[in-house]
Amino acid sequence: MRVNPLVAVLFATVAIAIASDAAPEAAPPDATAPKPGVMAEPKSTHQVGFPAELYKLSIPADNPQTPAKVALGKALFFDPRLSVDNTVSCASCHDPGKGFTDQQPTSDGVHHKFGQRNAPTVLNAMFNIAQFWDGRRATLEDQARDPILNPIEMGMPNQQAVVKKLSGISEYQDKFQEVFARAPNYGDLVKAVAAYERTQIAFDAPFDRFMAGDRNALTPQQQRGWAIFNGQGRCMTCHGWNPTRPLFTDDRFHNIGVSAHNAKFVQHARQALALLKQAGGPEEIDRLAISTDISEVGRFLVTKQPHDIGAFRTMDLRNLFVTQPYFHDGSQATVWDTLDHYNKGGVQNPFLDGGIVPLGLSEQQEDDLAAFLLSLTSEQFMAQAKKEYQRQFKISRTDRPQRDTEAAIGLKGRNGPGFGGPFGDLGPGQKYMRENPALLGGD
Ligand code: HEC
Ligand code: HEC
Repeated sequence: MRVNPLVAVLFATVAIAIASDAAPEAAPPDATAPKPGVMAEPKSTHQVGFPAELYKLSIPADNPQTPAKVALGKALFFDPRLSVDNTVSCASCHDPGKGFTDQQPTSDGVHHKFGQRNAPTVLNAMFNIAQFWDGRRATLEDQARDPILNPIEMGMPNQQAVVKKLSGISEYQDKFQEVFARAPNYGDLVKAVAAYERTQIAFDAPFDRFMAGDRNALTPQQQRGWAIFNGQGRCMTCHGWNPTRPLFTDDRFHNIGVSAHNAKFVQHARQALALLKQAGGPEEIDRLAISTDISEVGRFLVTKQPHDIGAFRTMDLRNLFVTQPYFHDGSQATVWDTLDHYNKGGVQNPFLDGGIVPLGLSEQQEDDLAAFLLSLTSEQFMAQAKKEYQRQFKISRTDRPQRDTEAAIGLKGRNGPGFGGPFGDLGPGQKYMRENPALLGGD
């Protein structure tokens, strides 16, 4: 392996800095952490469907984009030294080669402990109305503060420790001076990371070319899928697309019955209600969301409003075939599984969104929808996405764990006998689900 002299110098500097601090952890950065490749480069804004006005509005006045800042942010994004044991970088869970995700149901960080939530993509995250599945952070800058300090993600003990570590790396001393005209500090660190993330825009999909007037950009099957998306499938009611905000989300939070797959969902909601009477600081909420069962209550952790129990942000649907698996808990392996979930009207629970109803879609209609969703893939990811689409298509011919045709056509479920339970379709703990939901907030 060719050793980059700069890297060698950096290692030496860190070693000296740490030695003089008498700190025990002098390990070099983990060589297996993802390296920036061509997919990590800042993307051109010359993409079909690029929302230029929205882009301008989405860059905070106090953190303008500059090439030097973006370069610093990129170095930080890929640097495992931001973690307590030098093994985990942002890119470990948001790998550009995997659509800026880790393609795992939930993520493992330092100490290889798995969290409760699926890592969403950083692509187009700059346009999110709020960050995280529950929207608990307002901006990319605020978001970036959390994983570095989260005990099971990057595990640094506190902001001071991060700044101290960075200050011991001469390259960062220079770069922070160059970009911010001062020594490394936590606020500037997250600004640089956010500036880099704002270069990861992803439009330029067949769908964008179709909407720009190229009628051949979508196959006939994909065009049928687009019609179902807007019609019988009701997808458009939440995953709304429009030319000024072309992102397939209503920017709201809904309980679509994903958490309720877990039969203990209502029990967890009850625990959350009790816990939140005391807890509440942002870092405490981050810990609850990432590493405890009550993660499942979603938006409720943030608003403490019972109607937000089990609600999560409506996700953008671009580049789905490089960001598998799906939903906030990564519980669905294929796009077809997510479609089966919607087709049967989600999983019943007391807080299910009124927009989730049995759809009565045929197999052919589900295939058409899946084909349409492939058309939301940006050119840069298309080759990779087509392979994944084929892989999932094959699985979907034989393996459909979420399929429930009777529920989809209204022969059972909420329209059938026994409305009000049992909720949940996993595990035997149904007794929790028979409780009167109205009592939930009561104690
Ligand atoms: C151990 C894996 C892991 C690491 C390391 C990690 N993330 Fe994440 N990231 C996640 C998970 C899981 C979520 C979703 C958590 C949630 O919603 O509660 C997330 C959410 C996000 C989001 C919000 C996206 C959205 O659509 O809401 C952004 C942006 C992001 N991470 C950027 C970063 C940055 C920047 C870093 C480094 C400072 C980082 N992540 C480090 C796993 C990780
Ligand atoms: C009532 C609002 C609503 C409707 C209607 C709706 N969705 Fe969703 N969708 C959401 C929310 C909220 C999430 C995140 C839920 C979660 O993970 O708990 C989501 C997540 C998804 C995901 C997973 C995204 C990811 O990154 O993991 C896919 C795929 C999806 N929806 C496709 C569809 C399709 C296709 C339709 C129409 C058949 C549809 N949705 C209808 C609100 C909705």
